[in-house]
Order: sequence, then structure tokens, then C-alpha cells
Amino acid sequence: MSAQEDYQGRYAAAMMNAFGVPKRVLVRGEGVHVWDADGNRYTDLLAGIAVNSLGHGHPAVVEAVTSQLDALGHISNLFASPPQIRLAERLAAAVGGGRVFFTNSGAEANETAFKIARLTGRPRILAMENSFHGRTLGALAITHTAKYREPFEPLPGGVEFLPYGDIAALERAIDDQVAAVVMEPIQGESGVLPAPDGYLQAAREITSRAGALLWLDEVQTGIGRCGELLLGRSLGVDADVVTVAKGLGGGFPVGACIATGTAAELITPGSHGTTFGGNPPAAAAGNAVLDLLEGGLLRHVRETGAWLRSAIAHPDIVEVRGAGLLLGVCLTRDIAPQVVDLAMADGWLLNAPRPDVLRLAPPLVITREDLATFVEALPTWLDRVGE
Ligand SMILES: Cc1ncc(COP(=O)(O)O)c(C=O)c1O
Repeated sequence: MSAQEDYQGRYAAAMMNAFGVPKRVLVRGEGVHVWDADGNRYTDLLAGIAVNSLGHGHPAVVEAVTSQLDALGHISNLFASPPQIRLAERLAAAVGGGRVFFTNSGAEANETAFKIARLTGRPRILAMENSFHGRTLGALAITHTAKYREPFEPLPGGVEFLPYGDIAALERAIDDQVAAVVMEPIQGESGVLPAPDGYLQAAREITSRAGALLWLDEVQTGIGRCGELLLGRSLGVDADVVTVAKGLGGGFPVGACIATGTAAELITPGSHGTTFGGNPPAAAAGNAVLDLLEGGLLRHVRETGAWLRSAIAHPDIVEVRGAGLLLGVCLTRDIAPQVVDLAMADGWLLNAPRPDVLRLAPPLVITREDLATFVEALPTWLDRVGE
């Protein structure tokens, strides 16, 4: 029995069956590579699902977290810490001024935004078809996928789903009872589906007119993933509430709900809380990631993403969509899971959010040289499917 098989047996016995038994047990990471328990090396084009923005073991993150742990690890939110305040200031500046609530995950960032929506006193929330916002009950209430939601009903109420990208449907649905309209600038889990041109801008106008909050979930698209700190803002759309997580800590769990204007004032003592959210090492990791992004990494993401997008070609590929280094490779057939398996056997990690879409979300520090071999290998996997 290989070391991996031994671990997989123990995993199956000890872990709740939320994910099935993972196909690989990983033991080490460095840069854009990870190694499994049997010593095989993989190039990581998934980055822990759009999380490891600086790759694995980046010295800046390691140094920030370890020196912070050395100085002061956890303190709870009964006390404040300099890295937390600094990260809050930087995230608030990223939306043009506002306030921040730190969390440990994307779902919790959305829970915070959900509470802000409730605190407006308006009962309705408009969410989007094919959305994904996380697995906690509030986040599930605004997540469209029936199989995720239905076993857990009744969920928090007042949520209605609209076709993503349909401006007329949003105009018809909105009124002065709508607290918030929530959407992802690119629907990541539904297959890296970008909002149609002009939709976010229209949503901004329509929500402003109705006095409703525009709530952008940038958990997957934000913090450099799409070549911008925040994708919505780079498109000229200033949301009232923005949620981020995933890439923010470069692999360390930290998320944030960032609010502006009146939305930033609704959380008051007693209305929300968290023990861990934004603790010193998590905030230090976030600051290290922002330092790198501000130091030229955003341009690298835009350029590398644009090159990768144009370099990928095969008759089975309909289009490559997305932004920066969040790309969906759309296929003519439902073969994405088989391609993922062939790629893994050849030492590449990617995933299939839909049967006909491959998702590429590599570390933001990945280079063209790293990706050139992938560009050559992808057509061979597509040719081999079904052989
Ligand atoms: C857009 C979006 N929002 C929220 C989440 C949930 O984040 P987490 O898994 O950290 O709770 C995800 C996770 O995939 C996501 O893609």
C-alpha cells in the first residue's frame, strides 16, 4: 500500500464524507508546485481554489505570519492589534473609504453582509441564478443551486433569484422593500461566467435609484485574482458592500466584509461578532499579500492572464472566459472531469466547476514559462479523453 493509500483509508474513516475521498494527499508546497505523499510533484493551477495567491510557502507570507505569531498570536476581538487596523485601513481604501468586519472565510463575510442587509429594515434580498456564496445558512439562502439549498430549508427568507445579467428583470423586481442586490462580478463556481458588459453598472444605477444596497461578492474575483484589487471597482462600479476572502490571506484563512456610506454604520456593538476573525497572524498575512499586489503583481496577473487566454487553443475549446488569472476553458463536450484526471496523472492540478468547463486559478505569481508546458499539454489531454 502506498503512503497515499494509507492516508486515504484513514481519511475515509476519520473525516465526515463532505468531499468524498480526495484523489491526492499533499504534503509539501513550494512556489507553484506541490508534492503528494508518494513524492509526485504537481504544478498547481488551482491554488487551493483561487486562494494561494503568492503560491506555496512564499517567503513574505511565511515571514509575516511567523514573526507575528512570535510577537503576538491570538487576542480575540475584545482587543485590537496593529496589523488588523492596518489591513482594515487598506481594505477600506480599496473601496474608496469605508469600514471593515473581518471573518475567517468567504461564507462568513457574506453572513456579515446579509446581516447588514437585514439591518436596513427592508425585507427583500435579490440574488442571482447560478450564484454561489458559501455553505453557512445565510450564504446558502442567497446561493441558487437547489441541491445545496434544499436539504437545509427553511433558510433565512425574503430572498428571490433573478436571471444573472438580465437588466430588465432587475428593474422589474426592485422596489423600496429591497434591502440589497447581491451578485458575483464573475460567477466562479458556476463555470467562471462573467457578468455581461454593462450589467454591473446597470445594477449600480438601479439599486441607487431604489435606495437598495449593491452587494458584490468578490470572494473569488477580488484581491488580485482578476488583475485588479477589486474587479467591480476596476469596472467603475462602487458597491455599498463588498465581500472578500480566498486570496486575501495567501493561504491563511481571513475574509472581510467591507462597507461604505450608511451600510458601514449598521453594525453596532452586539449586532455581530467573531472570536478569530482578523486575528493578528491572519491580518499580517493579508498585509503581506497586499504589499505584493501593490508592488507590481497586479500588472503581472493581467499580462499573464491575457497571454494564457490567447495561447490556449484546441478544436474542443469553444472559448476561454474570465479575467486575469481566473479563467474558464469552455469545452464542446462534458469531458472536463476526465481532463482533470488526465492532467493530474501528468502532474497538473486544475478543476472542473462544470462538466464542460475547466477552471484555471493558478498562483498569481505563476510565469509564462510555468504555463507554456500546460498550454502544450492541454491539447494532448483533450485528444486522449475517451481513448
Ligand atoms: C463567490 C464566492 N463566495 C463565497 C464563497 C465561500 O467562501 P468560503 O468557502 O471561504 O466560505 C465562495 C467559495 O467558493 C465563492 O466562490
